[in-house]
Amino acid sequence: MNPDMRITLTQFLIEERRRFPGASGDFNSLLLNVALCCKRIARKVAAGALGGVLGGAGAVNVQGESQQKLDLISNTLFIEGNNWGGYLAGMASEEMDAPYQIPDCYPRGRYLLLFDPLDGSSNIDVNVSVGSIFSVLRAPETEQPVTEQDFLQSGTRQVAAGYAIYGPTTMLVLTVGNGVNGFTLCPQLGEFMLTHPRLSVPADTSEFAINASNSRFWEEPVKRYVNECMAGRTGSRGRDFNMRWIASMVAEAHRILMRGGVFLYPRDSKDSRMPGRLRLLYEANPIGFVMEQAGGRASTGRQPVMDVAPSSLHQRIGLIFGSRHEVELIERYHNAPPPMDLPEPLFCERSLFRTPA
Ligand code: AHG
Ligand code: MN
Ligand code: MN
Repeated sequence: MNPDMRITLTQFLIEERRRFPGASGDFNSLLLNVALCCKRIARKVAAGALGGVLGGAGAVNVQGESQQKLDLISNTLFIEGNNWGGYLAGMASEEMDAPYQIPDCYPRGRYLLLFDPLDGSSNIDVNVSVGSIFSVLRAPETEQPVTEQDFLQSGTRQVAAGYAIYGPTTMLVLTVGNGVNGFTLCPQLGEFMLTHPRLSVPADTSEFAINASNSRFWEEPVKRYVNECMAGRTGSRGRDFNMRWIASMVAEAHRILMRGGVFLYPRDSKDSRMPGRLRLLYEANPIGFVMEQAGGRASTGRQPVMDVAPSSLHQRIGLIFGSRHEVELIERYHNAPPPMDLPEPLFCERSLFRTPA
């Protein structure tokens, strides 16, 4: 299609807003400013070593992770790009211990913004795709400063979510609860153009993504699932599987949106203080919302991830998402008693849940 004929993110949002005649425009301002933040971050990421942005920042975040310079730069860009607009009551980020209060000099708005400003930080210095993830919730109707409690809403209450991926192209993938649409940044115009309308995750797949170095810490249902995939044609699944691991969840989510697949960062026993690796409120829930809106599924293994009642701002959780039938199979493995006499490793020929090839 002639790029001049494509619709921009702005046009897309204005047309969406017409479905809600009473809408004030705040919601669109919020999403357009988030998109602007992502464009700014894309420029920083693309400059790489030339921009002096690679390497560690010499600081540690509330979760004990070393912060990269780009983690902090991206966090500041999100904060300063959104604090002035009058549409937010507060923000929360992977890189900040406590919620951010909107300064008194700006009006207080009706929404809360949560974000992982830079996802996949371990990939920054090696020039592999990274991204930003965001989630929008409604704020309580009060004039009080926001508290952690205000952000502890289940994923089903998100009003918008999405991510930007900084890869060979920069893309913004967005849901406002009416399907999922993908926009590619046009470098000439500096505009996100609708290039991937109505994205849909294929229900079936033969590709999975998991950090196999953690396999000794996995729970039985995950060991069983992965071993059955690895057994391929000769095992209970009756077909060969392919494996990927990028270590940028945004990049894995994007691949799965484009061609299907299943992603697992399950609950494991590696560190008893961490029942999972990924954070519920600004990683699992927004990606879960995108997946479910695209016809996929997102789960802890035991329940839909968006049904989880959050207990703290930086809560971690086991996360499994992607092609619906595969996630449902993994859920059945979690919710059923393990099959008897499983050999170790679990390359079994027969399975209670044998699926058609
Ligand atoms: P972040 O860079 O925001 O801390 O998130 C990284 C996450 C996620 O993107 C990825 O799937 C996972 O951590 C990678 O973890 P491993 O290094 O354990 O593979
Ligand atoms: Mn992350
Ligand atoms: Mn991050």
